[in-house]
Amino acid sequence: MSELSWGRHFLMCPPDYFEVSYSINPWMDTSVRVDRDRAREQWAGLAGTLRAAGAVVDEVPAQPGLPDMVFTANAGIVDGTTYWPASMRHAERAPEIAHLCRWLAGRDWTVADPPDAVQEGAGDALPFAGTLVAGHGQRSTVDAYQQLAERAGWTITTVELADPRFYHVDLTFCPLDGTTALIAPGALTAPSLERLARLVPDPVPVTVEEAAMFCANSVVVGRTVVMPACSARLGRVLERRGFQVAVCDVSEFAKAGGGCRCLTLALDVSLAGDASTSKEVAA
Ligand code: ARG
Repeated sequence: MSELSWGRHFLMCPPDYFEVSYSINPWMDTSVRVDRDRAREQWAGLAGTLRAAGAVVDEVPAQPGLPDMVFTANAGIVDGTTYWPASMRHAERAPEIAHLCRWLAGRDWTVADPPDAVQEGAGDALPFAGTLVAGHGQRSTVDAYQQLAERAGWTITTVELADPRFYHVDLTFCPLDGTTALIAPGALTAPSLERLARLVPDPVPVTVEEAAMFCANSVVVGRTVVMPACSARLGRVLERRGFQVAVCDVSEFAKAGGGCRCLTLALDVSLAGDASTSKEVAA
């Protein structure tokens, strides 16, 4: 049971300006009000749970007018000390990136020049088995991944997202350790599911109902799986595999279509130069 080589250092952004003021995914209903105090409590609960599990959590200041900046998973892709800024599909989120670039550059990160094609950061790109499992078909584009593979030297396994409710790959797929990952089969096209099945030796299937509870949008710290929700069934499966489940209620953020994983960006990911990065490439 090899633990993930990443997931001990995260970037989060407090929900100071969090609200649902526009709708860019099927979960967002602008007539639904966010309880900001409750959001603050839930956000602090998540940060506290991650720290208690052994992770370091850094905080980037929130910016007025950018309610979705809380979802730092979409800020970009981290590789060693290099940050590849995202290129957001929707104009509402685009200005977040300049703030992230400034904040990270001020902390000695190298800010890379990203491809001129839509790619929504780690929310759509999770490392597993020496490759970057990269979602497209809803937000990010295959084009962006082709350019990133070339420029950054990563091995990328693209998977097509089939259901608008699961518009980022981190709502359908969650690496748990070196061989295990949560996968929501119903959210992927058949060829993509096949590709993922070849990559993951020990998949833990998540039903569409569980995926709709954002069960796959979990953060893994060692053997602790920090989940926005967990069915009794899935909890038993994970415990049998030696994981501890920590459920963190982030229901205020579900109003904007996000869970625990969306609220974090892993800062300790290393992709290029990894000796095992030659597993599989697919377009
Ligand atoms: N409202 C945000 C959006 O639609 C939610 C982002 C969720 N992030 C994620 N990594 N799945 O962009």
